[in-house]
Amino acid sequence: MHANSRPVQSNQASLHEQLQAVVAKHAATAFRKPVAAVNLEAFTTSIAAWKSHGDTPLILDAGCGVGLSTRKLAQTFPDSFVIGVDQSADRLSRDVRWPADLPENFITVRADLVDYWRLMLAEGIYPRQHYLLYPNPWPKKSQLGRRWHGHAIFPVVVALGGRIECRSNWKTYIDEFALSLHQLSGITVHAEMHDSTPAEALTPFEAKYASSGHALWRCCAELPQRPGLAGMLMNS
Ligand SMILES: C[S@@+](CC[C@H](N)C(=O)[O-])C[C@H]1O[C@@H](n2cnc3c(N)ncnc32)[C@H](O)[C@@H]1O
Repeated sequence: MHANSRPVQSNQASLHEQLQAVVAKHAATAFRKPVAAVNLEAFTTSIAAWKSHGDTPLILDAGCGVGLSTRKLAQTFPDSFVIGVDQSADRLSRDVRWPADLPENFITVRADLVDYWRLMLAEGIYPRQHYLLYPNPWPKKSQLGRRWHGHAIFPVVVALGGRIECRSNWKTYIDEFALSLHQLSGITVHAEMHDSTPAEALTPFEAKYASSGHALWRCCAELPQRPGLAGMLMNS
């Protein structure tokens, strides 16, 4: 397979100059938007599925798209339960011909992550692993607030703890993500190259970028859980 996806184009040459100020503001500000009923229902259903699977570590595949990575992670970590969350009903219901011998330790669910993550922290549900694979890059300089690390939800994502991994074909996204993780956790995090072939790819976007010859980037960190931040970030 050869794809011809274009590399990310941006009017931002390197780290956004407002990044650290934006992250600091979000860390000091409670997120008060009410949780939508539809997201609460999706959260309740998927957490019940995990709990009914036994006392296994939880892996969150945040922005799972069609759910290929959710299934591959479930195969790779048979002793864990994987929840894939995406807001797109279209992607989640796409008619993908999955292999017949899929494991049963996963579920995909439609929800807005902004609510899903807040519900996790509020309910004390902490992922052992947390993947954000090829999030929309929002590459225009004016779009910093739409990148996950520039979004008001990011302190909640970090407070959930666990091993977090973000991948992108835009190095600046990963540099910013790593710097924001460091700012909120004190842990040193670096962008590193991620080698993948289309055949080995964990997600369809990874396969598309790999077959287009893009460099792939990721950063990983082992974060502590910060339950004490739940009240500060979400209530007052
Ligand atoms: C570029 S796609 C990547 C999908 C998949 N991870 C992959 O690599 O193939 C980004 C995904 O994030 C999802 N997404 C973006 N914002 C979201 C949100 N607030 N809540 C849930 N999903 C979201 C989109 O629907 C989309 O499927």
